[in-house]
Amino acid sequence: MEIYRLWWEEVARLLPVILVIWLICVLVIRWSIFASIVKMTEWIRRARRGEMTQQDSLPKGHLFAPLTREVTQMARSLTAARAAAGEEARLRNAAESRWTPERLKEHTKAVLHGRPLVVVANREPYLHTRQGRQIQCIVPASGLVTAVEPILRACGGTWIAHGSGDADVETADPQGRLKVPPEEPLYTLRRLWLTREEEEGYYYGFSNEGLWPLCHIAHTRPIFRAEDWVQYSRVNAKFAAATLEDLEGTESPCILVQDYHFALLPRLIKEKRPDAKIAFFWHIPWPNPEAFGICPWARELLHGMLGADLLGFHIQFHCNNFLDTVDRMLESRIDWERFAINRGGFTTWVKPFPISIAPEEPAADPAPSPGSTPSGREHLLKELGLTVQYLGIGVDRIDYTKGIAERFRAVERFLEKYPFFQGKFSLVEIAAPSRTLIKRYHDLGEELGAEAERINRRFQNHGWRPILFLKKHHSHEEISRFCRAADLCLVTSLHDGMNLVAKEFVAARNDNRGVLILSRFAGASRELPDSLLVNPYDIDQVAEAIHYALSMDPEEQQERMGRMRETIHEYNVYRWAANLVSELARIRPLPQEEPLSLRSPE
Ligand code: G6P
Repeated sequence: MEIYRLWWEEVARLLPVILVIWLICVLVIRWSIFASIVKMTEWIRRARRGEMTQQDSLPKGHLFAPLTREVTQMARSLTAARAAAGEEARLRNAAESRWTPERLKEHTKAVLHGRPLVVVANREPYLHTRQGRQIQCIVPASGLVTAVEPILRACGGTWIAHGSGDADVETADPQGRLKVPPEEPLYTLRRLWLTREEEEGYYYGFSNEGLWPLCHIAHTRPIFRAEDWVQYSRVNAKFAAATLEDLEGTESPCILVQDYHFALLPRLIKEKRPDAKIAFFWHIPWPNPEAFGICPWARELLHGMLGADLLGFHIQFHCNNFLDTVDRMLESRIDWERFAINRGGFTTWVKPFPISIAPEEPAADPAPSPGSTPSGREHLLKELGLTVQYLGIGVDRIDYTKGIAERFRAVERFLEKYPFFQGKFSLVEIAAPSRTLIKRYHDLGEELGAEAERINRRFQNHGWRPILFLKKHHSHEEISRFCRAADLCLVTSLHDGMNLVAKEFVAARNDNRGVLILSRFAGASRELPDSLLVNPYDIDQVAEAIHYALSMDPEEQQERMGRMRETIHEYNVYRWAANLVSELARIRPLPQEEPLSLRSPE
């Protein structure tokens, strides 16, 4: 009996404690887990219905972190698929012939009969680098990457590139392979490792101190060293071996070789795999025969390139220069009407394919409304500490071909001629350091900083500075934000194959505002005559263009921008890729005596 009583007393004493613990547990579960589940359910429901906005994010928390990541990814894919399907339906409805990733994917599958695409390019699309104890994945500043990456995203395949990031080895498997993009793997990146000597000779030396200045008329002398040529040849052979390994087991594979780093590659591959179809795209200008002829290995380079079935340049003028060069330097039969070169019974077709971008609809900035949330532009200006009325931008790799110093001087001249704009206009120059191990590039970074400083000292007043020189790598999203906020964008290359910044600026302006000032010496000028075309060496002319741009009424801006947007949406990178791949797939080996023929792309 006594035991029974004691037991009851103990129960009565513990009961409140148990109740309190139970209550706390219920509340914790209710608030942390249940509330998160409710939020997540609501979020998933909205994602399913397509009601998501850029700002919507899932509840964060340790408990759900892994699940959150997966669900976020799934929702993004769903949103992207829904947008793509909507766009497809809209285009079908409007009977338009725009190229989309889906259309390119289907087209490539059909013309390549399911064979995978192989891209060989020096620069990798994703580079891993160490930031303190963290590893960061960045997309390098490269027009080539901007253009070629959307194609592999759309079609799948393999991108073979130099693994140049300091954390690249540990983020790939032992064969140097990894699936990318990291957040949604769609294709394989295969990294090749180069020794320090190879990188110095092939990349810094022959490619960037030799061929780069040789092909750009920017008045920097090319330097050709025999030891760099040895490394260039060695690295080309290394990439050829890796590519051939990748092609094993694939019949009549299709390979897209990119740029001046790999002039020898087409021949090296063709010799071992005559069944391979090779397109070689040259992303930079091709000079006239006199200029090219100063390269001591000019003939070897041409011979290597003519191993490709199809050779692409951005514009017809560069194709003409190439044919002229071959005509002067190699024994061959040239068909000037159809732009084909026959050498030793093998035909290479030469054609212009003006490269482009994958224009996306940028996420809308919060709309400005008086007295409420500031606009994207106001936010940006505040972050930069600027209080100006007019904003100009420039976006470049720090390279002597980009005409950045000329641009700064044009801003100086503009402020001199139009003092009304002093204190009201600033140029933000977003400049990504590039090839800094080359003295000319390293010094240029310093020179540009000093030039901006000189001009700033001359005009600065009450905290206002005419030039803000942001010397660091910026992501695509960050750059797009600047593009949307700017009144004008200055692209003043002294010489440029295409220049995709010009197209990116236009793509970002879904408000149909903003003015593009564009160098006549950039390939993009052929397609964007609605920009203000300038000679970047003519400082007064560029200064006048800045003034004209800032005084342009909204209707004119809208008309010009509207037409340019039409062009870049119509002639996007998916069309570029489709034309290149279709052209390549059509090519058949022809006996020498047969008449040459080449159908033009759609
Ligand atoms: C140009 C070249 C590309 C190159 C890019 C960036 O656009 O045509 O091949 O990737 O410059 O240069 P980088 O040397 O950093 O790759």
